[in-house]
Amino acid sequence: MQKKEKQLNALYKNIPIPVYTWKRAGEDFILEDCSDAAVMITQHKIEDLIGIKAKEFYNDVPEIYDGIIRCFAEKRTIEREIQYQLKATDERKFLSVKYTFIAPDLVLEYADDITEKKTLQAAAIRIGHLVSLGELSAGVAHEINNSIHGVINYAQMLKGRCCEKGEDNDIPGRIIKEGERVATIVKNLFYFARSRKEEHSPVHIKDILSDALGLVETRIIKNGIKISIDFPSELPMIKARRHEIQQVFLNILNNAQYALNRKFQVTHENKIIEIKGEVIEFEGQKHVRTTFYDRGTGISEDILDKIGDPFFSTKPQDEGAGLGLSISHDILKNHGGRLLFESVEGEYIKVMVDILVDNGLE
Ligand SMILES: Nc1ncnc2c1ncn2[C@@H]1O[C@H](COP(=O)(O)OP(=O)(O)OP(=O)(O)O)[C@@H](O)[C@H]1O
Ligand SMILES: [Mg+2]
Repeated sequence: MQKKEKQLNALYKNIPIPVYTWKRAGEDFILEDCSDAAVMITQHKIEDLIGIKAKEFYNDVPEIYDGIIRCFAEKRTIEREIQYQLKATDERKFLSVKYTFIAPDLVLEYADDITEKKTLQAAAIRIGHLVSLGELSAGVAHEINNSIHGVINYAQMLKGRCCEKGEDNDIPGRIIKEGERVATIVKNLFYFARSRKEEHSPVHIKDILSDALGLVETRIIKNGIKISIDFPSELPMIKARRHEIQQVFLNILNNAQYALNRKFQVTHENKIIEIKGEVIEFEGQKHVRTTFYDRGTGISEDILDKIGDPFFSTKPQDEGAGLGLSISHDILKNHGGRLLFESVEGEYIKVMVDILVDNGLE
């Protein structure tokens, strides 16, 4: 019997999840024992933990404390999903906390870290939304494509007639030019929506950038933001899934637009997104680096290394899910690349996208 007890105790201590045994003590509950994983996660000494009151222990996460109360009251196993911010690192964590009623005065609490599962779920939902949006866009793009070519055709006919009569043909010319611009945007949208199963293929990064800009440029310019592009013409090709890199660029451009609009409500000479292309070398291999530089709100140094984390966002909930950069980070990892940031709060941010050069092998 003693041996069995020892075994159970060893099991309780060594189980690789935080387990807490709470004992009722008047109105509150005190910690009777906990597993080594719980000691590790709380970063306290075991002697400081034993006897601690639940209310004090869960002072800043009252949802966990409420679970203990409910389990005692309902005398049955209950489960809760809890979201909280780790004090030490500011990381956002998701926990699945279970409470089991094991004796009239004892409740066992154990928690699973489900942050990764949640991240994958959120990414899947977002991808699901993108897929339906993509299908919708493809349908709309197809319709617009047919009509816009009709418009261009008629404008061309008009231009011919104007010319015959020797009249000013500037207006049909402008219709053709604008119509072609719409046709390009629509073509990109169609391509973006339909190319999810695309293979990696050699492409010029500047072409991907133009496609991305084609989709958002009008909105950016309407916001009084200028765009300056500095790409040497002889940049090597990369091997990429074009629409994925386009998605990375679109998010960076949207982020820059948001930051510039927040800093400058009206037009300003610094309300500009500067985009530069160059070749750099890291880990002994050549990469094309695209740098997006904006002098918007920037990011403070202590959160700079967190902006690529899933769910990290400083935007109101309906304006940002905090997934753009983390998805971009994954996309770039799959392209032998990386995402880097440099910023001074209130001054500027530089977002650098490095992608492996296509070395023509295979
Ligand atoms: N150009 C920028 N200037 C200032 N802050 C930025 C910039 N780009 C990103 N950030 C910061 O990084 C955070 C994370 O960006 P990310 O694109 O991952 O998510 P989001 O834009 O908040 O939401 P989502 O992209 O999912 O709509 C932003 O909320 C913002 O705080
Ligand atoms: Mg974003």
